[in-house]
Amino acid sequence: MRQTIVAGNWKMNASKEAVNTLIMGILSGMADVKSKVIVCAPYPYLSQVEALITHSQLHLGAQDLNANVSGAFTGEVSADMIKDFGAQYVIIGHSERRSLYGETDDVVAQKVQVALDNDLTPLFCIGELLEERESGNTEAVVSRQIQAVIDRVGIKAFKNIIVAYEPVWAIGTGVTATPQQAQDTHAFIRSMLAKHDGDIAQSTPILYGGSMNPTNAEELIGCEDIDGGLIGGASLKSEDFLRICKAG
Ligand code: 13P
Repeated sequence: MRQTIVAGNWKMNASKEAVNTLIMGILSGMADVKSKVIVCAPYPYLSQVEALITHSQLHLGAQDLNANVSGAFTGEVSADMIKDFGAQYVIIGHSERRSLYGETDDVVAQKVQVALDNDLTPLFCIGELLEERESGNTEAVVSRQIQAVIDRVGIKAFKNIIVAYEPVWAIGTGVTATPQQAQDTHAFIRSMLAKHDGDIAQSTPILYGGSMNPTNAEELIGCEDIDGGLIGGASLKSEDFLRICKAG
């Protein structure tokens, strides 16, 4: 049985006051949450969140890392720095990084490797653009994105990887994939992993992301191959986020 995982991706939304309110709100409702819950904060707030969630069921993640160890990379943040603030997870290859910052499949695979080498669990994001879905290329696109990572780190490394399927057309648009569309792609992703290793395919968590909210979460997470969610907008309000955490 795969445990349900719900991760919040705050993206570039935070202030000290908002983080305090959000985390205190989430913590106040965690008693009956069975899912594993992760919050992925912007770098400047990792320290604040680390302090707030000590001895709680909440886990901390970052939203990206630089693939280098240290040195002259102005503005960048390393895996070691992220770990220094108690984060155990890191989002890698989010579609916003791929489209806005030119991250290729190769760069994403390299970052997945660096995360794993540093004992950070990657939330490895994949997903197709609207035109790719409409031209019938969804499976080709997600295959290519996954294969780049398998080629780099090997299938066994997926023991420590969480996959997040985020159709780009559903991110921040209010248009959610239907449970059937999401389930079909999740099943395809699992079958692709199974071609390499059946046990790994069965144990790898595959989260759905893209306009998941308290209203649609239960039906999506109820699908056989959907093991939880990676939540953007709805992770910024504690009541909404908690309702999604309780849907699993
Ligand atoms: P929304 O939930 O705002 O659509 O964002 C999803 C996402 O990109 C999570 O990483």
